[in-house]
Amino acid sequence: MSTESPCQNPEIRPAGSRSHTAGSRSHTAGSRSHTALETGSPADARSFRCVLVTGGAGFIGCNLVRWILEHRPQTLVINLDALTYAGNPANIADIRDHERHRFVHGDICDEKLVGSLLDEGVDAVINAAAHSHVDRSLMRGDEFVATNVGGVQVILDAIKARPQIRFVQVSTDEIYGSLPPDERCDENWPPAPGNPYAATKAAAELLALSYRNSFGLDVVISRCCNNFGPYHYPEKMIPLFITNLLDGLRVPLYGDGLNYREWIHVEDHCSALVAILESGRSGEAYNISSGTGLTNLELTRRILDLLGKDDSSVEYVKDRPGHDRRYALDSRKIAAELGWQPRHNLKDGLRATCEWFQANEQWWRPIKSGAYRKYYQQQYAERLKSAAI
Ligand code: NAD
Ligand code: DAU
Repeated sequence: MSTESPCQNPEIRPAGSRSHTAGSRSHTAGSRSHTALETGSPADARSFRCVLVTGGAGFIGCNLVRWILEHRPQTLVINLDALTYAGNPANIADIRDHERHRFVHGDICDEKLVGSLLDEGVDAVINAAAHSHVDRSLMRGDEFVATNVGGVQVILDAIKARPQIRFVQVSTDEIYGSLPPDERCDENWPPAPGNPYAATKAAAELLALSYRNSFGLDVVISRCCNNFGPYHYPEKMIPLFITNLLDGLRVPLYGDGLNYREWIHVEDHCSALVAILESGRSGEAYNISSGTGLTNLELTRRILDLLGKDDSSVEYVKDRPGHDRRYALDSRKIAAELGWQPRHNLKDGLRATCEWFQANEQWWRPIKSGAYRKYYQQQYAERLKSAAI
């Protein structure tokens, strides 16, 4: 870990500094690159000198840090992550020594640490740190409440003492709960979280907005649909199914497989978060979606197809308790106000993601051992006849 803050280090010259790509791990999925214009940032978009990204060693966080380093050459990134089971130094190995990036191993619940980092010239915080897996929140909820709510409160209190700092709370479409057939929800849809994880995310939003109301904090909220892409932790459906199939194992499809989700490539989520940071209106929430939705069964069949497998690799298993049936976002607001559009499509993105997992066994094999095996047994042993991994 570097001991010097990129924000304070006079040796660091953000503008025009060398660009840093993810090398063999880069993941383009047939996309166009996101220039400032393509992200749709309006002309009066704010620019930020030093952004604190929390959870930057997790799936979305590491992609976000990479996205900012690549597309915002003026911006320095401090990356604060507690390295829980889902946080992985390997996710940021290629940018570890990037001159505009500093990784800090620590907890967002650590008031002193968060305050001291903010004092290093930070002018924005994007909070992507969280306990993020619904199934784990159904096993026990304490860590979810501690980080997803308590950690947000710590960050908000720290910003309260430094109110010039903009705060983006990375939230989720899950806060709306399950939608009736044929409905799409805009940002005014009432929150009705259907599982403990989603409830903590909804609570965090309300807390953040209350700090805006009470203390005038500059708070913006994002609500994204399901992400996929590189560095996705293999407890989640897409990476779990891909890696199981690569190992010749069956995939555990919950219930009747007809639950419906929208899927977005993680790079599109990242470009949307930056658009919200730079141009989102204070106090507003923005839905983020590709608009591409399908049932879990349809998605599973696409993955099977890409990996040369068939329905015999599917095992229907006992459903997730309280499993939300359908999420579907109306994301016209972010398109109209911020000019943001997704660049990836599911077909090409899914293919590229399968290829990424095929090419990066050295990344996921170590994860799917040790403590992960214990989790997998706990989660699936009773559900899945072929529970061995
Ligand atoms: P993830 O589980 O892959 O990563 C979470 C990261 O947060 C990990 O690196 C972990 O070490 C870190 N972390 C956890 N507790 C911490 C703490 N107390 N202090 C510091 N770091 C801590 O999750 P993800 O899928 O990358 O999700 C990131 C954010 O995006 C979450 O807020 C999640 O709610 C939100 N989100 C995720 C999706 C999705 O599809 N994955 C969709 C919408 C929103
Ligand atoms: O919608 C956004 C949310 O997407 C994020 O807020 C969460 O952090 C993220 O984890 C994700 O939540 P989901 O519960 O939708 O993701 P998951 O990959 O766990 O499940 C996707 C769907 O697949 C869901 O309907 C449950 C189903 N599923 C999941 C697993 C792990 C299965 O059928 N079998 C499985 O083994």
